[in-house]
Amino acid sequence: MAVVVTFFLHLVQDYYTAHGENATYIAKTYCHTTSALRQLGSKSDAISSVSVSKNMFETIARDLLLERTDHTLELYEGSGSNWRLVKSGTPGNLGSFEDILFANNEMQDSPVIVAIVPNFRENGSTVGLGYIDLTKRVLGLAEFLDDSHFTNLESALVALGCKECLLPVESAKSSDFRPLNNAISRCGVMVTERKKTEFKGRDLAQDLGRLVKGPSEPVRDLVSGFEFAPGALGSLLSYAELLADERNYGHYSVRQYNLDNYMRLDAAAVRALNVMESKTDANKTFSLFGLMNRTCTAGMGKRLLHMWLKQPLLDVDEINFRLDMVQAFVEDTAFRQELRQHLKRISDIERLIHNLEKGRANLLHIVKLYQSSIRLPFIKSILERYDGQFASLVKEKYLDPLGYWTNDDHLNKFNGLVEASVDLDQLENGEYMISSGYDSNLSALKDDQESLERQIHSLHKHTANDLDLALDKTLKLDKGTQFGHVFRITKKEEPKVRKKLNSHYIVLETRKDGVKFTNAKLKKLGDQYQKILEEYKTCQKELVVRVVQTAATFSEVFEGLALLLSELDVLLGFADLAASCPTPYTRPDITMSDMGDIILEGSRHPCVEAQDWVNFMPNDCKLVREKSWFQIITGPNMGGKSTFIRQVGVNILMAQVGSFVPCDRASISVRDCIFARVGAGDCQVSCVAFSSGLLEQAKKELIKR
Ligand SMILES: *[C@@H]1O[C@H](CO)[C@@H](O)[C@H](O)[C@H]1NC(C)=O
Ligand SMILES: *[C@@H]1O[C@H](CO)[C@@H](O)[C@H](O)[C@H]1NC(C)=O
Ligand SMILES: *[C@@H]1O[C@H](CO)[C@@H](O)[C@H](O)[C@H]1NC(C)=O
Ligand SMILES: *[C@@H]1O[C@H](CO)[C@@H](O)[C@H](O)[C@H]1NC(C)=O
Ligand SMILES: *[C@@H]1O[C@H](CO)[C@@H](O)[C@H](O)[C@H]1NC(C)=O
Repeated sequence: MAVVVTFFLHLVQDYYTAHGENATYIAKTYCHTTSALRQLGSKSDAISSVSVSKNMFETIARDLLLERTDHTLELYEGSGSNWRLVKSGTPGNLGSFEDILFANNEMQDSPVIVAIVPNFRENGSTVGLGYIDLTKRVLGLAEFLDDSHFTNLESALVALGCKECLLPVESAKSSDFRPLNNAISRCGVMVTERKKTEFKGRDLAQDLGRLVKGPSEPVRDLVSGFEFAPGALGSLLSYAELLADERNYGHYSVRQYNLDNYMRLDAAAVRALNVMESKTDANKTFSLFGLMNRTCTAGMGKRLLHMWLKQPLLDVDEINFRLDMVQAFVEDTAFRQELRQHLKRISDIERLIHNLEKGRANLLHIVKLYQSSIRLPFIKSILERYDGQFASLVKEKYLDPLGYWTNDDHLNKFNGLVEASVDLDQLENGEYMISSGYDSNLSALKDDQESLERQIHSLHKHTANDLDLALDKTLKLDKGTQFGHVFRITKKEEPKVRKKLNSHYIVLETRKDGVKFTNAKLKKLGDQYQKILEEYKTCQKELVVRVVQTAATFSEVFEGLALLLSELDVLLGFADLAASCPTPYTRPDITMSDMGDIILEGSRHPCVEAQDWVNFMPNDCKLVREKSWFQIITGPNMGGKSTFIRQVGVNILMAQVGSFVPCDRASISVRDCIFARVGAGDCQVSCVAFSSGLLEQAKKELIKR
C-alpha cells in the first residue's frame, strides 16, 4: 500500500520541511540520523520537524518516486498559515513532479499504471485490465483467464513495465485476493486502492471518443469486445483526470494488449536472468540492460530498450526484421558509426513533445526540436548511400517514412517556421528570442528602441561637451534598475563640474563609485525607453506563445519520428555490442515454435563474459525436440551450473528481442515463455536450479505444449 509523504515548501525562505512521523522517516532514511529533527511547539504537544534544502528535496523526490516506488509524494507551498497543495505524484503518475525529476536527468523508463477488475470463478478467474502510459499517451485494454496464482497477470505487469496498480478497495482488502496481491507485489508494483464505484465502464466508449484521435467507430467496437476491462480503464481515466484537461483530447491512442504477442516473463525470471539493472550491481554490465545500453539518443533509445527487453517477440518475421537490420549495421561499420554520430545529436523528442502538449514548452524546447529536425537530412543521406543486402528493407522501413515526414508539408515547414521566427544568432549567448523581423509590431518596437538609443547617445555626447568631460572615459552612461538611465562621474571629477551640476542637472546619488545625475531630457528619454522595452518584452511573450502553439501542430510528425529514431538507435546499439565484443556475437537462426529445437554452440553468458576477471569457457546446449527436451544439469558446487542455465535463458531472450547472441552458432525455435528459478544473487553466484514446486509447474507447461 502506498505511504504518503508530505512536504511543505516555505516560499519566502525557500526550504522544505516535513513533520511528525514523516519527519522521522525522512531524517532516518535520508539524513541517517534523528539529530536532524527539531521539536516544534510546547512539550506536551510537540511535533518533530525536519528541514531540507532544495537539492535534498529533489534527491528525496527522485528516490521516493523512481527508486522505492511505493510512496505518494505531496508538496504544499506557502508561508505562515496559508498553504496549498501544488504537486502530487505517484510512481505511475509522476504528474507535476516531472519538471523536478527530469530537469537534469534523462527519463529512463516511462511509467505505466494498470487497473484491474478481477472476477473470481471456482477454478480460476477472469482478469479485466486497463493501462495507461501518460508519457507516450497510450491507453490499453486486455482481458484474460488466469490461474489461481495470477501468473498471466504477473507476466502482463512485467511486460508493460507497470509501476502502480489500481484495485477496488474490496479486492485489496479481501483475503480471497491474497494471491492477486502477491502477484502484484512480486513485480514490485505499488497498489493504490480506489472505490469500487470508480471501476465503471459504462461511458468509456464515449470518453475515449474524446481522448482518442480518429473516428470513434473503431473505439466503440474495441470497447464492446470486453466484459471487465472497460471498468478498469474507466477507473484510470478518472484517476489520471484525463478528461479534465482539454489538451488531452484527440491526443491519445488506444489499443488492445494481447498477452500472446510477447514472450511471457514473470518477475522471478526477470530477476534470475538479470534482465534489468539492480542498485546493488557493482558493475552495470552485470545486467543485460546495462550491457546492452549503448543507445545514443537522449533518453528515447534507452526507454525503448527497456521496453523491448520486457517484451521479447514471438513472431518470426518481426524478429528477423530486427536481425536483418542488426546484420546490416554489423557488416557495414562505417554505416553504423556515421548513423550513431548523428543520433548522438538527437534530443529526447518524446519528452519535448510531451512538454509541448502539456503547455509547458518555451522557445528552448522548440529550438531543441529544430536542432534534431535539421539532423534528419544527414541521417537520410546516410541511409540512402547504403546499398547492401538489406537496402530495400532500409528504404521501406526508414527512408520512405523519413522522406515523407521531412517534406515541405511537414518538418521542412516546421524548420521554416523556426528559422523565420527564432533569433538563431542569439542562441550562442544562451538567449531564446523571437527575431524582430518576424512580426511588424515587434520590428516597429525594435525601431523605436533603436531610435531612442540613438537619441540618448547624442544627449550623452552633448552633455560631455557641456561639462567639458571625455565621453565614456569620464562621463559614463549607466543603465540601472533603480534610476534607469543616468550619467555618472567619479568623485574626483565632481568638484570640477559641481557648479554646473547644481544649476543644470539633478544629482541623484553620491557614493564611493561616483556621482550619479540626470536631467529632464535624459529622464524623459529613459522613461520612454523603459516603456518601449516593456512593450517589446510583452510582444515577445505573446509571439512565443503563438510560435509554440503553431509548433505543437507538428507533434504528430515528431511522435512518429521519435519512434523511428529510437528504433534505429536500439538496433544500432545491438549491432555495436555484437561487433565490438572481444568474441563477436552471431546472428541466430530463428525457427517456428513448433520446430522445438534450441541449439547453441560455443555459447557464453554475455554479462559474465564481459567481466575483466573472467575467462569464459564456451559450452554447447542442445535441446532437441522429442530427444532432449528435458535436461538435468549436475556438477560440483561453484561449477557454473546456474550460469549455464541462465546463459541459455539469456541467449534465447536476446535472440527474441532481435539481438545477435554470444554463440558461435545458434538455432532457436521461438519460445513463448521462460521460467527461471535460479538462486538469487548476481552473475557470479552459482547455486540451486529449479525448486520442486516450480519443477512441477514447468513439467506441466512442457506437457501442455
Ligand atoms: C506521513 O504522514 C501521514 C499523515 O500523518 C501518514 O499517514 C504517513 O504514513 C506518513 N508517512 C510516513 C512515511 O511516515
Ligand atoms: C472453469 O470452468 C468453466 C466451466 O466450469 C470453464 O468454462 C472455464 O474455462 C474454466 N476456467 C479455467 C480458467 O479453466
Ligand atoms: C546508459 O548509458 C549511458 C552512457 O552510455 C549512461 O549515461 C546511462 O547512465 C546508462 N543508463 C543506465 C540506466 O545505466
Ligand atoms: C499589432 O498590434 C496591434 C495592436 O496592438 C494588434 O491589433 C495587431 O494584431 C498586432 N499585429 C500583429 C501582426 O501582431
Ligand atoms: C565494469 O566492467 C567492465 C568490463 O569488465 C570494465 O571495463 C569497467 O571498468 C567496469 N566498471 C566498473 C565501474 O567497475
